[in-house]
Amino acid sequence: MERKTVFSGLQPTGNIHIGNYLGALRNWVKLQDEYDCIYCVVDLHAITVPLDPTQFNRDRLDAAKALIAAGVDPERSLFYYQSQVPQHTELAWILGTITGTGQLNRMTQFKDKSDRAGSNLGLYSYPVLMAADILLYRADAVPVGEDQKQHLELTRDLAERFNHRFGDEFPMPEPIIPEKGARVMSLQDPTAKMSKSDPDENSRILILDDPDTIRKRLKRAVTDSETEVRYDWAAKPGVTNLIEIMSLLTGESVQSIETEYGTGGYGTFKDAVADAVVAGLAPIRSAFREMDDAEVARLMQRGALDARTRAEGFQQAVRKRVGLAG
Ligand code: AMP
Ligand code: TRP
Repeated sequence: MERKTVFSGLQPTGNIHIGNYLGALRNWVKLQDEYDCIYCVVDLHAITVPLDPTQFNRDRLDAAKALIAAGVDPERSLFYYQSQVPQHTELAWILGTITGTGQLNRMTQFKDKSDRAGSNLGLYSYPVLMAADILLYRADAVPVGEDQKQHLELTRDLAERFNHRFGDEFPMPEPIIPEKGARVMSLQDPTAKMSKSDPDENSRILILDDPDTIRKRLKRAVTDSETEVRYDWAAKPGVTNLIEIMSLLTGESVQSIETEYGTGGYGTFKDAVADAVVAGLAPIRSAFREMDDAEVARLMQRGALDARTRAEGFQQAVRKRVGLAG
């Protein structure tokens, strides 16, 4: 039987936080053992908000390095920058012609971002480019955090609409969302998700943060006015978020964490969470530090070449379907 194809992307803006890691990246890494994986640093998605070009170029390389340090293996997976494979944008244009503007108006990420950054056409059509990323390779499965569910639904809608209008071309991609960690919350406001764009740096822990920073951020993490360490999203979202982070990084069950730290006070508990986070991220940090920029740049070039070849084969079939071939 043919191996299933997995596709996912991450924007190279700001730094990768433990929400990205626990919600998506850990699955990216795991899936490499079994599936044909394609992972993309989605730089074209990132430029939908204003950025400094020089800084962005640096951030893009750092994102590639961080993903490799976290376990993306360019020898096993196809790994490249989105902008270096023009078939993504070509397919996005074609899919755009079958996308209703009403549907785009309902996308919550667009609404959030355009409130903050001001609207533009790129931000508006962002979900169509994302659908193209996935459908370009006929991906079967897409490991993401919960916030991307709506975009995956749009992707499936577009696949269905295309297949109906032009003939069966795209399989229906399934999201792969972890049971726990799919929505890691802000350390400062546990009712909002941890986000790269939150102006408050204390709201997140980056996968490359040094141990002191990690400890400081966890000490300041918002909890509640009780003292009990108990897993309860409704009543104790701050504490619950920390329990979940700890459980995911140590493999210890929620129940055993509750038993161990239940009545010991938040101070002791937060120190233990900090130990778990520091230990869990240490291998990523040291791998990142050992990496050579020029070598990673070369790997990305090679990835783009391979991706272009693969994408072109698929894209030719789309052109034929639509009447654009020959
Ligand atoms: P982005 O940083 O927007 O490119 O997101 C990269 C991946 O991380 C996507 O699959 C997101 O769904 C996931 N993600 C982002 N924020 C969180 C979060 N707070 N908790 C869990 N997953 C997240
Ligand atoms: N929209 C995703 C995010 O904000 C990033 C992304 C772009 C993506 N293209 C993708 C994720 C394709 C999965 C598959 O996190």
